[in-house]
Amino acid sequence: MKATLDALGAEIENALDGCRSDEDLERVRIAYLGRKGRLTEVMRGVGALAPEERPAVGELANALKRRVDECITALRERWKAERRQHELERERLDVTLPGRVWPYGHVHPLTAALDEAVAIFVSLGFSVYEGPHIEDEYHNFEALNIPSDHPARDMHDTFFVDHTHILRTHTSPVQIRVMENQEPPIAAIAPGAVFRHDDDVTHSPMFHQVEGFLVDRAVTFGDLKGVLSLFVQRMFGDDTRLRFRPSFFPFTEPSAEIDISCVICGGARAVNGGTCRVCKATGWLEILGAGMIHPAVFRAVGYDPEVVTGFAFGVGIERVAMLKYGITDIRLLFQNDLRFLRQF
Ligand code: PHE
Repeated sequence: MKATLDALGAEIENALDGCRSDEDLERVRIAYLGRKGRLTEVMRGVGALAPEERPAVGELANALKRRVDECITALRERWKAERRQHELERERLDVTLPGRVWPYGHVHPLTAALDEAVAIFVSLGFSVYEGPHIEDEYHNFEALNIPSDHPARDMHDTFFVDHTHILRTHTSPVQIRVMENQEPPIAAIAPGAVFRHDDDVTHSPMFHQVEGFLVDRAVTFGDLKGVLSLFVQRMFGDDTRLRFRPSFFPFTEPSAEIDISCVICGGARAVNGGTCRVCKATGWLEILGAGMIHPAVFRAVGYDPEVVTGFAFGVGIERVAMLKYGITDIRLLFQNDLRFLRQF
């Protein structure tokens, strides 16, 4: 009997050695210690032995059973600990590693120029308004003293939406919308997209303007000049000079186009021994349209032109961005070519 137990012990040890998983262990446990297990059967046989043999054999069998149990438990625990260790190794965090750097973008050069222009006027006390892109002819033209037979309508290359609605050709209709809804004094700007049927190196069918206007009693052309000088010098640098040229807009009188000294040659008309190509050797760049608000415009919004005066101006933001950043083709601003955009 003792020999049988020794042989069984060796066999079990062998079987346990071959175990690789908890399932393997469970199979071995059932094979030897289960209800019909081999060791269980041997233990049941102890009762049939001669009484004097029973205690010793019983003791041996019990000891073997205990050893097998312990061995199984120990293996299970060891493997569990190993698995845990493994997991911990795998999940180990090295907090000293540099973080993952996500590429991040920046504002588009056009947005940067627009934001900068708006910020300058806001710092001067102007409030910001927006109007609809789809305008009616009344606000875009008529109320701005451009009747339907006025030749100025030709200059605007209008996109029509239907018989009475268009894509606004300038931000000036926002002047009308703001004045219709409030009384002077008003100092307002209206930034936003405008649309004209026009497409070449310096014209895009969609572009951006910042409209500005100020209405009060006794506003003068000098006030206009002061505000625009400040704007231009903050935008392009303190050395920038302004030049007012007489011009015509139906909604301002008198009207002016405003040039700044060339941002490339500084007005010298030449750079690096050659003539300046940006200002075409004139020393000046046109960037603004402006003037004193026409009495007909005041009448259209119910203001008394004998009592109030005001100035208005409009600046093209693509042009500002192109001059500020030295961009020669307006289309680059709308193609979203990252090789271009990443330079800013
Ligand atoms: N609306 C004019 C344009 O788009 C610009 C302008 C605005 C001129 C305000 C004078 C006063 O050309």
